[in-house]
Order: sequence, then C-alpha cells, then structure tokens
Amino acid sequence: MSEQTIALVTGANKGIGYEIAAGLGALGHTVGVGARSPERLAEAVEKLRAEGVDAFPVPLDVTSDESVAAAASLLGERFGRLDVLVNNAGVTGGVPQTPTTVTPEIVRTVVETNVIGVIRVTNAVLPLLRRSAAPRVVNVSSTVGSLARQSSLPGAEAVGPVSAAYAPSKTFLNAVTLQYAKELHGTGILINAACPGYCATDLNGFSGVRTPREGAAMAVRLATLPDDGPSGSFFEDAGVVPW
Ligand SMILES: NC(=O)c1ccc[n+]([C@@H]2O[C@H](COP(=O)([O-])OP(=O)(O)OC[C@H]3O[C@@H](n4cnc5c(N)ncnc54)[C@H](OP(=O)(O)O)[C@@H]3O)[C@@H](O)[C@H]2O)c1
Repeated sequence: MSEQTIALVTGANKGIGYEIAAGLGALGHTVGVGARSPERLAEAVEKLRAEGVDAFPVPLDVTSDESVAAAASLLGERFGRLDVLVNNAGVTGGVPQTPTTVTPEIVRTVVETNVIGVIRVTNAVLPLLRRSAAPRVVNVSSTVGSLARQSSLPGAEAVGPVSAAYAPSKTFLNAVTLQYAKELHGTGILINAACPGYCATDLNGFSGVRTPREGAAMAVRLATLPDDGPSGSFFEDAGVVPW
C-alpha cells in the first residue's frame, strides 16, 4: 500500500468543504474534490492545485445512487482504497422554516442530502475505507442539531432559528453517526460528527461570524485522529457537544 493518504470531501467546491480539502491538502493528503457541478468542480480543483494541493476531481451528487456509485468506482480504480471521508455536503432548505408551515417536499430534500446522502456515500466507499490502515469518517453536523442545546434555553432564546428541516436533519445525522460508530466499533474506522461553528458561507447568505477556514479546522482534526482517538462523538472547537 502506498504511503499516500487518500481523502474524499463531499461538497468541496466552496465554503467549509473547500477549506477542508485545502486543510487536508496542506497536510499532504491527496484530496478527491467531490462536487455536483462540473464547472464548479473544475474551478475548485484548479484553485486547490494552485494552492499546492494534490487535488483530483470527483463528480459527486450525494442524492444520486448512480453518481455516488461512479465516484466510489473512480476511487477504487485509481487508488484501491480510501483513508478519509468527510461528508460535508449540505443544504438548509431555505428560511423561514417553521414546523407549522414547512412543506413535506422541503423536509424530504433536506433529509435526502444531509442524512441519506451521508449514508449513501459512506456505504458506497465503505469497502475502500476497510482497506485503509487508518480509516476516518467525519460527518459535518451542526450544534443546531443538538437536542440538549436546543432545549437548554426557553423558546426564542434556544440555539439557532426555529427549523423544521435543517436542524432536525443534523439531529438525525448525529444519531446515524452514533449508530455507525456502534456497528464499526473495533474495525479501526473512527467516525465522528463535527460542528464548524457559525461561518460566513453561501449556506447562510454569508452572515456567519467565522471564516470557512476556521470552520474547517475541526473536521480536519477529526479526519487525522490517531488510532486511539474517539469514535461516535460530536465535537466543536470548545470540545464535546452534548447530543
Ligand atoms: N456555514 C455554517 O455556519 C455552518 C454551520 C454548521 C454546519 N454547517 C455545515 O457545513 C457544511 C458545509 O456548509 P457550508 O456552510 O460550507 O455551505 P455552502 O457554502 O453552501 O456549501 C455547501 C456545499 O454542499 C454542496 N452540496 C449541496 N447539495 C449537494 C449534493 N446533492 N451533492 C453534492 N454536493 C452538494 C454544495 O454544492 P453546490 O455549490 O453545487 O451547491 C456546496 O459545495 C454543511 O453540511 C452545513 O450544514 C455549516
């Protein structure tokens, strides 16, 4: 097996995903840049390469079985394994998003990307991760998915805006992360959830207070955990986030 560390980052053409790719690249990883738009993908790969990253394009729409299968084949044929998977791609479903007015279609779209997309991609590349000497999976979540945080303050003071699809999708993702950790316990695959904090990206109309690069740091850290690192946990910069 080569010494090279092979990573795949989904939704890596912009925002936090781009910075996760850049951060892993700066550590010497060979980075598969996952993106659904061919133009945005080519642009991001070019930009990462200009920054010195050993980046390669991975056309990838996490909501498509076909696209995800093709991405897994591409990685398998080229490298025969995968060391790091960062499930970063995500959508909010738009705002406002109140439970009393949300449409089933919005909930379906958000869950399809933020939860089912993660399961789809993870399971497709799992055989490749199993061939790695130190496989790591990071699911980019959010503290708005923490039920403990959501319920710790009354009404409008609770963390984040009222959300019928986005916040619950991250709660669902956290639960799924924990179940993966249980099933994969003892296999060497470490899987954790990371919250980047409130970052200025397209996702929130650039209203966030942190840079995407600052937000990427926790995912990069969890992607490079030592063998005795945690699995089935949820982290932000300040430490463990309660479920
Ligand atoms: N920004 C924050 O404050 C914040 C806070 C907590 C958690 N997060 C999480 O961080 C992650 C990255 O978000 P961001 O803030 O960097 O947002 P962003 O700039 O909007 O980036 C989202 C990325 O996901 C991609 N994507 C969406 N649907 C996809 C699909 N079906 N297949 C493949 N890629 C898809 C987007 O691709 P396109 O360019 O093609 O749309 C884009 O590359 C998300 O999971 C988000 O929930 C963000």
